[in-house]
Order: sequence, then C-alpha cells, then structure tokens
Amino acid sequence: MKSSNLLETRNKILKLVDEQNSWRKKCINLIASENVMSPMAEKVYLSDFMHRYAEGEPFARYYNGTKYIDQIEILVQEMLGELLGAEFVDPRPISGTVANLAVFSVLTKSGDSIMSLSTPTGGHISHNKYGGPTALRLRVYNYAFDYETMNIDVDKTRRDLKSEGIEPRLFVLGASLFLFPHPVREISDLAEEYNATVVYDAAHVLGLIVGGEFQKPFKEGADVLTSSTHKTFPGPQGGLIATNSDELFTKLKKGVFPRMTSNHHLHRLPALGITALEMFSFGKDYARQIVKNAKTLAEEAYALGLPIIAEHLGFTRSHQIALDMEKIGLSGKEAADLAERANIIVNKNLLPWEPLKNVRDPSGVRIGVQEMTRFGMKESEMKTIAELLKRLWLDRETPEKIKEEVINLRDNFQKVEYCLGG
Ligand SMILES: Cc1ncc(COP(=O)(O)O)c(C=O)c1O
Repeated sequence: MKSSNLLETRNKILKLVDEQNSWRKKCINLIASENVMSPMAEKVYLSDFMHRYAEGEPFARYYNGTKYIDQIEILVQEMLGELLGAEFVDPRPISGTVANLAVFSVLTKSGDSIMSLSTPTGGHISHNKYGGPTALRLRVYNYAFDYETMNIDVDKTRRDLKSEGIEPRLFVLGASLFLFPHPVREISDLAEEYNATVVYDAAHVLGLIVGGEFQKPFKEGADVLTSSTHKTFPGPQGGLIATNSDELFTKLKKGVFPRMTSNHHLHRLPALGITALEMFSFGKDYARQIVKNAKTLAEEAYALGLPIIAEHLGFTRSHQIALDMEKIGLSGKEAADLAERANIIVNKNLLPWEPLKNVRDPSGVRIGVQEMTRFGMKESEMKTIAELLKRLWLDRETPEKIKEEVINLRDNFQKVEYCLGG
C-alpha cells in the first residue's frame, strides 16, 4: 500500500468505527442473537488479558504469567455453575459453535449418527450437515417436526429411527428459531433407549434459563449444555460447556483444549464474570421482562394485522417472535431491508415449513427483544414498536419517515439496565 494511502485508510477505519458506534445508538436492534454488555463488563473486557495466552486449565497451564487469569477463570466457573445448576463448567470455548464442535468431537466418532433440528425448523448450522458435523464425518438426521405444536414430534421421531435403523449417539436440542421450550424429558427417555447423550444448546436462551423464565435443561434430563454467552445472556461474545457428570466433563474439556482451541481469548473471562454477577442480582427481573416484552410485541403487532406466527400457541415463550411476511406480500429480505432503512434491525429467517433452498430469500423475519429490554424498554415501548412495524410493513410508509421516530424513541433508552453500577 502506498504511504499516502496509509493515513487515508487509517482515518477511514477510525471513521467507520465511529459511525457504527453512533449509528447503533440510533437503532432499535431486534436481532435475536445479539446483546450489549454493561459498562463495567466492557471496561474489564479491554484489559491486558487480551494480549495473553493461557493454554490448559487454571493452575495447570502450559504458559507462565497466568496467576490472575487462573483465579478469574475459577470464579467464572463457580458462578456460572451456580447460575446453571451445573457442577462443572468450561468457559473456554471461544464461541457457541466451538463449544458444539468440542462436545461432538469427543462424544462421537467418524460415521456416527446424531439427531438435530433441520435448519428451517430452527437447528443451528453447527448442528447440521453444512456445519461442523460434516467436518467430524458425522451423519446428521433431523427430528420429525409438528407444525401444529411448533415443536419436535418425539413419537414420530422414535418411529422414524426404528424404521430406518438409525442409532444416534447424540440427541442435540436447542435452536436458533426457538419460540417454545423443547421436550427435553421425552428426548432424554428416547436417548436412553440408544444409550445416547442429550446435548442442549442453550445459545439463544441462556439468559432466560438462568433468570428462571425458560425450561431447566439439566432438571429435565440433558446431559450436557452448550451455549454462547452473548445472546439473551448479555456477556462478551464467547461460548461455554456445562455438565453434572464428572466422567463426561473429563472428556469434554479435552474437546475444548487441545482439540478445538489453543488459547481461549482471556479478556472475555472478566467480562463474563461481571455479567454472571449481574445475572445473580438482576437476572430474574431481566428475563421476566424479556418474555413479557416478546409476548406484548407479538400480541400488539398481531392485533394490528402483522402476520406473527404461532398465534394458536400464544406466539412465544422466549425472547423471540417470528413473522410470515409472505402473507403480506413481502419476502423476509425485503422486510428486513425496509426495516433497516428505518433504523430497525431484524433478520430474514427461514420458517419451519419452508424448503432449505429458500435460505437466501426466506419468507420469514425473526425478532428478538432482549437487547431493547436490556436498554430498559417495557410493554409500552413494545406497543410503539408494533405500530412502527405496522406502518412500515403493512401501510408501506416511507421508511425514512419512520426512521426519525425510531431515533427519537431510542434516544430515551441509551443506558444499559439490569447491571452493576460503579
Ligand atoms: C442455537 C445456536 N447454537 C449455536 C450458535 C452459535 O453461536 P456462536 O455465534 O457463538 O458460534 C447459534 C448462533 O446464533 C445458535 O443460534
């Protein structure tokens, strides 16, 4: 690169970062997989730890200079264990995907079969053949899905396994489109018939689980929990694995290191610890408000004529709602693009009954209210958002006109709530 361009490019990078920071303060972010950390978590995130290595386990590292991260990592393990009702927690996976890969890699061998939800019915890419399972040479079979209950059809899945002679090693639960709790108990009974392990991927709902507003995977029979730490759980981007089995944990840790990570991006851990503390203090209120907000947004939007799915089931029991935009003559992409012009950020999403080939232009939109809840929005703001979405998607008002109202609404919700002061 020419030296004259160096300065120009530096300035461009600085400007783009500034623009992102100020733009996102003017947006209503409804992406279901995102969140923001508290100021204190952000403060400890930017530390010397971001430059360091600590391969191995606390107080048994392959590097020197780790005496402080050793202590932090143990505190984080203990706090997350208490929040999750798990005896053993490994917070070293650097993402939910890495956590899943680490678990699958030690609990299966090449050629084994695993069960998961298909992508349209909510399964994450890391549960399916386009993701990690193929790298591990696994065969992926998908659960039968009942569109009426919007959930796994356990009886049909049992019959399918028998008739096709499939013997799964793992039953993966949890999803990216995750409106209703999964039948963990029933799947755990089915898994027992195959002497298989139940892995519950809590990436989306971790904050709701620790806040007591969603199902309790371990109590209901899950053997292993994997997760991201940055969706409804509002921590730094990263992952974790938890279990109550000493025997399993010995294996799972090896999946994380040395298999799927070397260093585990240490600066995440103090921020994860601060977020865990916040969940001890505020998790219940925060999770309760998220579910209330999601329900309110769904009910209000539906009453205004927006095509929210699963009305017969009360729309949702999580942080998410989903819309079938085809019903009002838009594709998911068109709807999401219109919303972005109004500073409302949502993502297009496959709906359970759609073919996978629609993935680039699906008919659905997925919405999550956890981030706006974290910024203090409650039911009355959900009503306002429902009206803005109706004007945007049903009345087809000019997005740029709605944008001004979005900026004004968001302006009153700039402070992260449910967090520690000081
Ligand atoms: C169910 C599920 N599992 C795992 C992941 C992957 O998480 P990460 O982005 O932390 O790798 C996601 C991401 O959205 C998800 O929805």
